[in-house]
Amino acid sequence: KTHTVTLIPGDGIGPEVTDAVIRILDATGVKFQWERFIAGAEAFEKYQEYIPKELYASIERNRVALKGPVTTPVGGGFASINVTLRKKFELFANFRPIKNLPGLKTHWPGVDLIIVRENTEGEYVGLEHEVVPGVVESLKVITRKGSTRIAKFAFEYARKHGRRKIHAIHKANIMKMSDGLFLKCSREISADYPEITYGEHIIDNTCMQLVMNPYQYDTLLLENLYGDIVSDLCAGLVGGLGLVPGANLGTEAAIFEAVHGSAPDIAGKDIANPTALLQSAILMLRHIDESSAADKVEGALERVYAEKQSLTRDVGGSAGTKAFADAVVKAVETA
Ligand code: NAI
Ligand code: MG
Repeated sequence: KTHTVTLIPGDGIGPEVTDAVIRILDATGVKFQWERFIAGAEAFEKYQEYIPKELYASIERNRVALKGPVTTPVGGGFASINVTLRKKFELFANFRPIKNLPGLKTHWPGVDLIIVRENTEGEYVGLEHEVVPGVVESLKVITRKGSTRIAKFAFEYARKHGRRKIHAIHKANIMKMSDGLFLKCSREISADYPEITYGEHIIDNTCMQLVMNPYQYDTLLLENLYGDIVSDLCAGLVGGLGLVPGANLGTEAAIFEAVHGSAPDIAGKDIANPTALLQSAILMLRHIDESSAADKVEGALERVYAEKQSLTRDVGGSAGTKAFADAVVKAVETA
């Protein structure tokens, strides 16, 4: 069987880490047909469209995409391609497993956290305007529908995968109505899952708790903005943004991408770590029912980390992106 998958290499380190991942996926023997598209500033130059119509159509058809990071201008410019795609396809759940890789020395060995981030609303609805010069309003939208479906997603995942605890993370002491509604919906859903312990923690305290003792958490359920921020914090617990994968999931499509951005500070230098996108690709392999290939890549990746040779600079090695990918390809081929 050939899997047709939409591929958005992205910009910055995107094309480098994508090339590495494609090579590793090809080594598994699973047959892919990649429909490759550019997006963002690059696409605008070429087509006067930030997201080409053909890209939308491709995702609609294939219902699965692998995506590298796309740069979003700060302040003005165009709306985030990432946020736009998540909203367009109603990819309401951003699923981000945070786990240590073998052999990597970090402050906290054996971290095993699941981040479930609401992916379509909150502060990221993009409703901002200037009321009068010097005063800007930015709307945060929280709905019962959005909050309930993300809570259900988290609890269903926990039930299916034997997770024991879910904490809803909030600031309902200040944002009494919006975060209050998010909490209320989470609490209601939690009642249907008596086997899973449910707790509520305030976001600022949660950041401190995570850094002091990440083991106290299991699954974190967060609104869009909090989930964005806490994901990077948690990436730091296990060795950095070069490692942590993500999946944007909805009922009609799924887009797999790393937590990190386009990392312009290291782009084009063959030093980026493709592990985060590779682990996203492993999630994708499971999603398309290629779990034995997923196991194979996972095993190969773990072996390369355990052997500590061929690691990239961000995790204490000295290998380049390509050399690291070569090592994983070899480990896949000899699996
Ligand atoms: P970033 O996540 O790109 O980088 C933060 C730091 O982590 C940098 O020092 C970078 O070198 C390092 N890093 C990130 N990925 C790495 C990897 N694979 N290997 C080794 N080191 C890595 O965040 P930054 O620099 O704030 O954002 C850059 C651009 O990316 C912005 O335009 C932002 O909007 C965009 N972005 C896009 C995302 C997406 O496409 N989903 C997600 C996050 C940011
Ligand atoms: Mg982010």
